[in-house]
Amino acid sequence: MPRGQLILIEGLDRTGKSTQCLNLIKKFSKSKLIKFPERSTQIGKLINEYLTNPNFKLNDQSAHLLFSANRWELNDEIEKLLNDEYFVILDRYIYSGLAYTLAKNKVDTTNDTNKDDKSKNITNSENKINLSNLEWLLTPDKGLPKPDLTLFLTLKPEEISKRKGFGQERYEQETFQENVRESFLKILNDLILKGDDSIKIIDINNMNIDTITNLLWEMIEDVGGNKLTNNPIKRI
Ligand code: TMP
Ligand code: MG
Repeated sequence: MPRGQLILIEGLDRTGKSTQCLNLIKKFSKSKLIKFPERSTQIGKLINEYLTNPNFKLNDQSAHLLFSANRWELNDEIEKLLNDEYFVILDRYIYSGLAYTLAKNKVDTTNDTNKDDKSKNITNSENKINLSNLEWLLTPDKGLPKPDLTLFLTLKPEEISKRKGFGQERYEQETFQENVRESFLKILNDLILKGDDSIKIIDINNMNIDTITNLLWEMIEDVGGNKLTNNPIKRI
């Protein structure tokens, strides 16, 4: 049975992912945009509280599992949409899950009096069990649909931190974003080296919104653009 394709846009905070997703969905005849975290569900509400309330305490392993659980909450809907011939555009997904948690390993949790309050909130425990174990990090996502195409937008962290609204949420801190960028690049480059050709890394420094949309659309056209696929849904 032909189905729509699953297309993922990934990137750091405030790289313009959401703007690009909005531009891209208009180019498909039948499409749906799904953003993760999806903050309106039961688990999504907890995640939203974690991201926006610095006093909300949650250990890092639990936070990681909640983000994955949030993806499972939407799984049936995504599979149904694809089988109903919708193109599903995801604004963040599993690679954000891996990269943000992995980046916490580099946050210094020793008592440093120079450290500002914000960096203390990114990881709240010295217990880093499993946080650097990629196999463990990926396990809760196993079985979810694998995107047919992943487009990762990269931008200099100093550029991101100048953007409007930066700093409002838990992970929006320049040093941490640099860690997240390194984690993303490590994870994605390793997968590319292993032969995963569904992942593309795109440096968007100095590009305007329309140029980026056109570039992303060209890459989507390379995998069929508006054309349905007969390939079965792949799994993580
Ligand atoms: P947003 O800014 O795209 O709404 O995402 C909120 C934050 O959640 C962002 O800093 C990235 C982070 N995040 C994770 O840590 N793990 C995940 O699995 C996802 C989807 C997002
Ligand atoms: Mg954000």
